[in-house]
Amino acid sequence: MTYHVLISDSVDQAALDVFKGSSALQVTANGQMKREETLAAIVEADALVIRSATKADAALLEAAPHLKVIARAGVGVDNVDLDAATRRGVAVMNTPGGNTISTAEFTFGLMLALARHIPQGDASLRGGAWDRKAFSGLELKGKTLGIVGLGRIGREVAKRANAFEMTVIGFDPYIETAALVPLGIEKVALDELYARADFITLHSLITDETRGMINASAIAKMKSGVRIINAARGALINDRDLAQGIQTGKVGGAAIDVYEFEPPPQDHPLIGLKNVINTPHLAASTSDAQINVGVEAAHLVLDALTSGVYQNVCNPAVLDKIKK
Ligand code: MLT
Repeated sequence: MTYHVLISDSVDQAALDVFKGSSALQVTANGQMKREETLAAIVEADALVIRSATKADAALLEAAPHLKVIARAGVGVDNVDLDAATRRGVAVMNTPGGNTISTAEFTFGLMLALARHIPQGDASLRGGAWDRKAFSGLELKGKTLGIVGLGRIGREVAKRANAFEMTVIGFDPYIETAALVPLGIEKVALDELYARADFITLHSLITDETRGMINASAIAKMKSGVRIINAARGALINDRDLAQGIQTGKVGGAAIDVYEFEPPPQDHPLIGLKNVINTPHLAASTSDAQINVGVEAAHLVLDALTSGVYQNVCNPAVLDKIKK
């Protein structure tokens, strides 16, 4: 039996090499596909491999009569309609570990860039200025970092913050305090984190509780001059409220890598503000992370299609009705 695998987003060559070894698979991969191309190609597919650009919504799933698995080369599956997938018997699998280090390192890069105005200094010099006064920053040593969400990435950020001699506090209702003590993280309530942190970094999933959590009322509880970093998901922040916090000076700066809708519109409230650094969802974009997540996603597909082994399933209810 031959299975068709459609790869509709750009993945590392190493992922394609995994499939090359199996004669049971026929792979279609043309780099980043447009929606219409994906809709046309999905008709034949038994498996779909995606990153974050393909929206695997109900309409796409409807157009895929043979689809059995979706493998997300990355962590977040917010671009997949999990309920629709479950209804149609499609297992959705992700690769949660492969881009942890890249994302934690990038978060740290954003924190240093915010503390030292590195992008602004670069832009100023390129513009012909030599202004050393305007970009005076602050040290991380001795400052308090508040980490919201203490999963894999939040914890790796904590390790790096400890090395920089920061005080690390964290909020995560799902993690036991005892697990955090060896990592040098003091677990606190969210309001306490807001009240104490000089830097706040977000590492939560989007849920009903976290959507828009960084809003005017949360900002009012924060320290004056707090700096906020978001390399998790754009919808954690109420963009207008944060923009207002920046404009009033209550928030000293923000580094934003993710947006509720990507790419964001040019009139996005957080783009173009003096104390805001914007990057285009780069946290997991390293060759190392993309090899890790691409290869892992390819193996997930291979195991599911050829051995009936389903791992990292994000919609476990589907397992009762898997089409074989
Ligand atoms: C993820 O969810 O894994 C990251 O946001 C990176 C990506 O979307 O590729």
